[in-house]
Amino acid sequence: MRIVDLRSDTVTLPTPAMRQAMFEAELGDDVMGEDPTVNRLEAVAAERLGKEAAVFVPSGTMANLVCLLAHCGRGEEAIMGHRAHTFLFEAGGSAAVGGIHPRTVPNQPDGTLDLDQVEAAIRDANNPHYPRSRLICLENTHNRCSGAVLTPAYMAQVRALADRYGLGIHMDGARIFNAAVALGVPPALVARDADSVSFCLSKGLSAPVGSLVCGPAEFVRQARRQRKLLGGGMRQAGVLAAAGLVALETMVDRLADDHANARRLAEGLARLPGIVLDPERIQTNIVILDLAPGAATAAELAAALAARGVKVGVTEPRQVRAVTHYGIEGSDIDYGLETARAVLGE
Ligand SMILES: Cc1ncc(COP(=O)(O)O)c(C=O)c1O
Repeated sequence: MRIVDLRSDTVTLPTPAMRQAMFEAELGDDVMGEDPTVNRLEAVAAERLGKEAAVFVPSGTMANLVCLLAHCGRGEEAIMGHRAHTFLFEAGGSAAVGGIHPRTVPNQPDGTLDLDQVEAAIRDANNPHYPRSRLICLENTHNRCSGAVLTPAYMAQVRALADRYGLGIHMDGARIFNAAVALGVPPALVARDADSVSFCLSKGLSAPVGSLVCGPAEFVRQARRQRKLLGGGMRQAGVLAAAGLVALETMVDRLADDHANARRLAEGLARLPGIVLDPERIQTNIVILDLAPGAATAAELAAALAARGVKVGVTEPRQVRAVTHYGIEGSDIDYGLETARAVLGE
C-alpha cells in the first residue's frame, strides 16, 4: 500500500549527503570541547541566527529546557502561550527540573500573544506574594497555531515590552527556518529580538537528531552547563552534527516546497464536507483543520485515512493535523486529497 505520512516533519529521514557526511565526520570529545564537527556546527548556527554563540543539544525539548533553566531561577515565572509546545508537550520539564512557574496567556490564532495581556501578566516585583516575572517565551513558527509565523515587527513590540520590565525573551524556534523562508527574510532577522533561540535540525531540515541553542556567549555558557546537568553532554557527537551541517547547507531553501504543498493540501481539504479550514491561514508546513459538529470525529477520520495509507495526527477530539516535509511530493498531496475525498465524500 502507498504510504503518505503527514503526521509530522519529525518523520523525515536523513538525505544520502547527510549519511555520507556522518560517515566521514571528523570527531573528538565534545564534552571537552574537542569535536571539530560539533564546533563547526555551533559556529555556523550562531552565525545564521546572528547570535554570539551556540550549543548543540540532543532534542528540541532539551533546547527549550536548558534555555528556561539558564534564564530563570526556582520560583521565577516564565510567561508563555497556552498552546506553547513548552507548556503542553515537554513533560512540565521547566517546573519539574527547575522549579520555574509557567504563566500562560492565550495564544491568538496567528500564534502571537496579545501584548496587553502579556503586560497584565507581568508581576509587581515589590509584592512578596508573587513569583518574580523573568521571561517571555514565544514560538516561531507556532506548531499548534497551524505553523503561524511571528513577524520581526511583532517581535520588536515584544522586545520593547520586555525591556520596559527587564524581562528576557526566549524563542522556541524549532521551525525558525520555515518562518524565515515564509517571510523571505534572513533567519537572523527572525531571531533578532529574542535573547535566546532554540531550533531543531530534525524536523523540516531532515537531520536525524539534534537541536541548537543560540544566544549571547555568557548565556550559552550557562546553557552548556544545564545541558551537562540534564545528561545531554554527548561525546563524539560530530556524527550527528555532520548531518546538521548538511541540513543547514542544503535543506533550508526547499522548505518553500513544503509550504506550497501544505497550502495546496489545505485548499483541497477546505472544499470537503465537514472540514472547517481557512487555507489563507496556512503560511508554512502545518495544516490544522477542525471537524464540524456532526461530522466524523478526528479519531474516526484518522483511522479511515490510515486504512488507505494516509497518516495524519489527531490533535483534539475534533481536530486533525497534517504536516508536509521532505519526502512528500506533489503527487502525495494529490493522493492525500483523493483519499480524503473518498473518505468524506465531495
Ligand atoms: C515548536 C516545538 N518546539 C519543540 C519541540 C520539541 O522537539 P523534540 O521533539 O526534538 O524534543 C517540538 C517538537 O515537535 C515543536 O514542535
